Amino acid sequence: RPARAQAPVIVLVGPMGVGKTTVGELLAERLGTGFRDSDADIVAAQGREIADIFVDNGEAHFRSLEREAVRLALAEHRGVLALGGGAVLDSGTRELLAGLPVVFLSMEVAEAARRVGLNTARPLLAVNPRQEWKRLMEARRHHYTEVARVVVTTDGRTPGEVADAVLDAL
Ligand code: S3P
Repeated sequence: RPARAQAPVIVLVGPMGVGKTTVGELLAERLGTGFRDSDADIVAAQGREIADIFVDNGEAHFRSLEREAVRLALAEHRGVLALGGGAVLDSGTRELLAGLPVVFLSMEVAEAARRVGLNTARPLLAVNPRQEWKRLMEARRHHYTEVARVVVTTDGRTPGEVADAVLDAL
């Protein structure tokens, strides 16, 4: 069987806090498929939290675990797959996404500040959430755009409305 027959229906990329998990679960429900999340897969495989992996082993190691998690998910899973916000930084991970229906969920910094500002579970945003989020977004936007088939904005939309917009866009 060709590998593509095992490919997920939809891959969600975008910055931390944009709602990839929430929207992904909704989409999976509507499509009657399963949902996977690379962060959750890494935590399950490693038996430790993402923040601990960053502190103990560094970001480069985390990116290689993430690439492996994405490779496995794409091989095993047919449904909706959400990637961690920085997954697109890795060229190997980007290559895995070639030709797939990838959706870039985007949002403006004002909305992001409200959504992720108080969440200390995200190691990259621990010091100055608003400024760091903006800096990361500026550094990553071209990668999100490069891998994505469509861009869907989440500003001013409920998760249900975002899920509708994703289904319309694909
Ligand atoms: C990261 C995003 C996180 C998680 C890790 C690093 C990033 O995923 O993978 O903390 O580099 O943007 P979410 O986008 O699901 O928060």
